Amino acid sequence: MSTTAIKATAADAATLDPEETYDRGRIEELQLERLQWTVKYAYENVDLYRRKFDDAGVRPEDLRELSDLAKFPYTTKEDLRQTYPFGMFAVPQERVARIHASSGTTGRPTVVGYTSGDLDRWASLVARCLRASGVKKGDKVHNAYGYGLFTGGLGAHFGAEKLGCTVIPISGGQTERQVQLIQDFEPDAILSTPTYLLTILDAMVAAGVDPKGTSLKTAVLGAEPWTDRMRTELEQRMGFDACDIYGLSEVMGPGVAGECVETKDGSHIWEDHFRPEIIDPFTDTVLDDGQSGELVFTSLTKEALPIIRYRTHDLTRLLPGTARPGMRRMDRITGRSDDMIILRGVNLFPTQIEEIALRIPALSPHFQLELTRPEGQRMDQLTVRIEPREGVSADDAAAAASELSKQIKIHIGSSCAVSVVESGSLARSSGKLKRIYDLRPKL
Ligand code: DLL
Repeated sequence: MSTTAIKATAADAATLDPEETYDRGRIEELQLERLQWTVKYAYENVDLYRRKFDDAGVRPEDLRELSDLAKFPYTTKEDLRQTYPFGMFAVPQERVARIHASSGTTGRPTVVGYTSGDLDRWASLVARCLRASGVKKGDKVHNAYGYGLFTGGLGAHFGAEKLGCTVIPISGGQTERQVQLIQDFEPDAILSTPTYLLTILDAMVAAGVDPKGTSLKTAVLGAEPWTDRMRTELEQRMGFDACDIYGLSEVMGPGVAGECVETKDGSHIWEDHFRPEIIDPFTDTVLDDGQSGELVFTSLTKEALPIIRYRTHDLTRLLPGTARPGMRRMDRITGRSDDMIILRGVNLFPTQIEEIALRIPALSPHFQLELTRPEGQRMDQLTVRIEPREGVSADDAAAAASELSKQIKIHIGSSCAVSVVESGSLARSSGKLKRIYDLRPKL
């Protein structure tokens, strides 16, 4: 390692939160103490938890060691819906400093609340993620996450402020204007969903702006699944470092986990504030580290909405810490269990298609998955609708389509149709992109 690199590492260590330097044993001690507080606090302050614990025959005192958490019941989105809007809050309304809500495509949104202490911890954790991903105090940050009830915009905003950045609160949309302001304000970092960044990238090209020539050095991307191939695509075309940030409203918002720029090997979960578990979504049993399953979170420091064993539906696995050895990492999210396509018995996620499509040079990252059931047939049909790269001939596009179909068959095991569509014809993202279009007749 060169002297400059060593100096840089030493300087970074000085700016870490103390908990980021704890070893595994110390993190687990802290987790146990905070977990014991959380289950007692939830039991005493939230009717739903009291009822659920009583029904399961567990008491807060039963949590003597970390593995005892498995005795406690899970919490689901349905619990939040049933108690809509504020029934799971553990503090009186006057102590709730802010409310957010998840969009929810069907039914009622889920509402989440924060005390001023929660907001402060949230901002600190987002600041920790941004710092880990390479954003620095004094940097200008272009925040393209949507502002409003979605936790992305304001969550990222206050985290960037906490880190000491100059925030440009542009929100999502008005993409041409975003391109203009990136040139005028010369931000160092951009915060966005990966697919909205693709939209911005396209708009730069359309406006004759060289995406590699901008001031941007770092992108912190999340709120939807994305792959390492997409990282490479964005990094190569824009000439910056792109890191992941993960989170969900029910557990806090962005900042539950974040990726370190020096390793880019998956997001470290901030285990001083959250206890993760991976469970088998069918048997509901806890799995060992390294095994893939559904991610479940218990908050350790939340006041307004303590959350016990929340079923995220996100599929991943836990890996040992690297850049922060005391905290475990999560592998990239393969997808949400509710976004899983089951095609003739084979499970398939949009991220798998992204990974395969981006290996084929003639194909762009713009694709949609269409599920249909042709008349008179009992089998579902999957069509991948994908745009070619600019300037690819019709013959090359057709060859790429048959290659994609072949690779999907080899790697996933499903037969599907691939249709190469005109460049620019598929809907572009303005935040979280809808990839799956289920056109099957509703039964
Ligand atoms: O999307 C919070 C967020 C905002 C995270 C900005 C990162 C950046 P929700 O709207 O409640 O909250 O959606 C949460 O989005 O359960 C995952 O399915 C997905 N998700 C979030 N981050 C990632 C990520 C925000 N880095 C849901 N990779 C989660 C994959 C992600 N999926």
